[in-house]
Amino acid sequence: MVGGGGREHTLVRTLLASPAQPRVICAPGNAGIALDVPCFPVAADDVPGLVALAKKEAVKFVVVGPEVPLSLGLADQLIAAGIPVYGPKAAGARLEASKIFTKHILLKHKIPTAAAGIFTEVAPALAYLRTRGAPIVIKADGLAAGKGVVVAQSLAEAEAAVHDMLAGNKFGAAGSQILIEDCLVGEETSILVVVSGRDYVILPTSQDHKRIGDGDTGPNTGGMGTYSPAEVVTPALLARIENEIVRPSVNAIADEGLDYCGTLFIGIMLTPSGPSVIEYNARFGDPETQVVLPRLASDLLELLWLAAQRRLAGYQLRVRDDVHALCVVVAAKGYPDKFPKGDVITFPATLPAGVTIYHAGTAKNAAGQVVTNGGRVLGVTALAPTLRAAADAAYTACDAIACSSKYFRRDIGAKQLLRR
Ligand code: AMP
Ligand code: GLY
Repeated sequence: MVGGGGREHTLVRTLLASPAQPRVICAPGNAGIALDVPCFPVAADDVPGLVALAKKEAVKFVVVGPEVPLSLGLADQLIAAGIPVYGPKAAGARLEASKIFTKHILLKHKIPTAAAGIFTEVAPALAYLRTRGAPIVIKADGLAAGKGVVVAQSLAEAEAAVHDMLAGNKFGAAGSQILIEDCLVGEETSILVVVSGRDYVILPTSQDHKRIGDGDTGPNTGGMGTYSPAEVVTPALLARIENEIVRPSVNAIADEGLDYCGTLFIGIMLTPSGPSVIEYNARFGDPETQVVLPRLASDLLELLWLAAQRRLAGYQLRVRDDVHALCVVVAAKGYPDKFPKGDVITFPATLPAGVTIYHAGTAKNAAGQVVTNGGRVLGVTALAPTLRAAADAAYTACDAIACSSKYFRRDIGAKQLLRR
């Protein structure tokens, strides 16, 4: 397992539960993953180091969590070394690493998405802004850890974002080209698809909470909480999403010669005129994974292995339709801007039934205590027969975790609970 966040902790736990009883190792992992499996201090972006580790440990199958090693060609290098891998090659990871690349593919293949302009210079970008008006969305082309998107409510805010990215170098090379995209209105859903060439398996639906604050306020983050299933995606709507977005996307990616094997995460806005693609990611979502995988009745290892072997045709996924899952992300106060590291975390001695704490940004200090080591620190997931019960259990656990810089949203799942 490559990576060291909440997504990877969930993947490790789920792979360990396979009837195949795999021996799992992780690089670099975190304090929680290290309690489950051996972790090796090789950074997730150290491609030669990861390949060397896989060889040294005689690894038979690599599952890659984050986008950065994928876009640096980790899958290409592993394949060249004869090691099977779940995760796309660099050419496929470009679907996430370049929003402009993806926009071209979406438009070419007539997959629903917002209209957009592409700019490298400030003056034409500002002129375009004035023709479109606010609200409007400014996006850095490249990878920016989920922070390269500004949904501007006013022209002034939009102009500032254009200056920050194109002139102020706020995201470095990632922001040297930008997209200016019409603002889509609606609810978002995350559709995770296991892709193997032209074959695919759609995983259970989920919804993320992207903003830092309750009521979807404040800046965008990597994601502050999730739940699954997302009931806003009715079976009829899911069928429409499959027909208009999932299948056309998988085929477009194959037609473009990207030879994709891995998770295709499709961020979708459910607009009044239909579902529209916001983005592709080339990996599992974080924290979507923390609610989607616990709802699988199928063996995840077998699923990912069949995908990597290009033997996914005819696969039937089994889902636990009897449970709702909800994940509250415990972050360090200050995230997504500056936040402290090294604060001691004290865990409750017992957890409510159905609760699992996945570690994300955690480490051990010299005294052996678990401390904060990132913006998103923990993913507290609860499984229960109802979403209400899952939320209650997750929040009981969140309240029982002690950490001086603890911050979490209080309203994860509220939209679905209120809708009922
Ligand atoms: P991305 O990094 O592309 O996922 O964008 C981050 C977030 O920005 C998305 O999850 C949406 O909440 C928001 N966003 C991105 N593009 C648009 C758009 N065209 N209209 C409205 N919101 C958007
Ligand atoms: N939670 C959104 C993402 O993984 O990009």
